[in-house]
Amino acid sequence: MTFDLRPLSAGFGKEVVGLDIESGIDPQTAAALKAAWLEHGVLVFRGQGTSPEVQLKLSRCFGELEPHPIEKFRLPECPDLILLSNENGPMGPVYEFDGIPITQRIPWHTDLAFATTPNAGALLRMVRKVQDGGQTGWLDTAAAYDALDETTKAEIADLEAVYLFRPGLEEMRFNNPGGKRLSPRKEGYPDFPPIANPLVWTHPETGRKILNISTLNIDYVIGQRNEKGDALIRRLIEHALDPRFQYIHEWENNDMVLWDNRRTMHAAMGHPVDQIRIVHRTTIKGHVAMGRVYTQEVPA
Ligand SMILES: [Fe+2]
Repeated sequence: MTFDLRPLSAGFGKEVVGLDIESGIDPQTAAALKAAWLEHGVLVFRGQGTSPEVQLKLSRCFGELEPHPIEKFRLPECPDLILLSNENGPMGPVYEFDGIPITQRIPWHTDLAFATTPNAGALLRMVRKVQDGGQTGWLDTAAAYDALDETTKAEIADLEAVYLFRPGLEEMRFNNPGGKRLSPRKEGYPDFPPIANPLVWTHPETGRKILNISTLNIDYVIGQRNEKGDALIRRLIEHALDPRFQYIHEWENNDMVLWDNRRTMHAAMGHPVDQIRIVHRTTIKGHVAMGRVYTQEVPA
């Protein structure tokens, strides 16, 4: 083994130390890294992301990469890298929180929770950090499932919920952070159909049970589009968002963090819009559909 794993401050995830990415990662080490990713959910590589090449070399240990569907978010010289930057203006909507205009605040979610097939994972590399805010959080939804009481596990075992694409925070039905919208609403988003997705996922690679509760996207429980279903969602979210399941990363430049998108939620805490933050991201493609397009309304 050419690396060591150290515990993070949270109950899950590991820091990878002693790995020499620049010299190349041999197949045995790549397999060990992939096993660690699946076992621990989040891997942190402090200060090791010194170039796009290093990021790509590392990312390819975990599977096929997926370029961003929109060309302007790809780095022209490395199309597998996704550029997240507000250097030329905010990427997404701007909201005022506590009197400060904030950009890139994205509450707890699973990537592509509004699609049938979530990506397997993703890896962020901090190119330019901000002075204030800008943290990213991860949350262990496998541990959150394990910690549910048996009655709740039985109650949700066969339930599905509807998940929607949300272009703005104001559309969130649950865990809405508030904030006053400062930027105009954009039109012209693709029309994503509603997705029916089980509240409990079985991880396609580890077999672990996962509490699937992407707070940004969840809309209602199928068959319980009423106060009872909404109360269940609120209860599950309150349970999952307990700090004991969370890891919050305070970024330094060149840090890289990799996550398993099937076994975690993540949240971007956002930062003042007048501070420049540049992140490069790779996405590890998912191959297993967890949900289905939902066309049929079931009476409540
Ligand atoms: Fe995300």
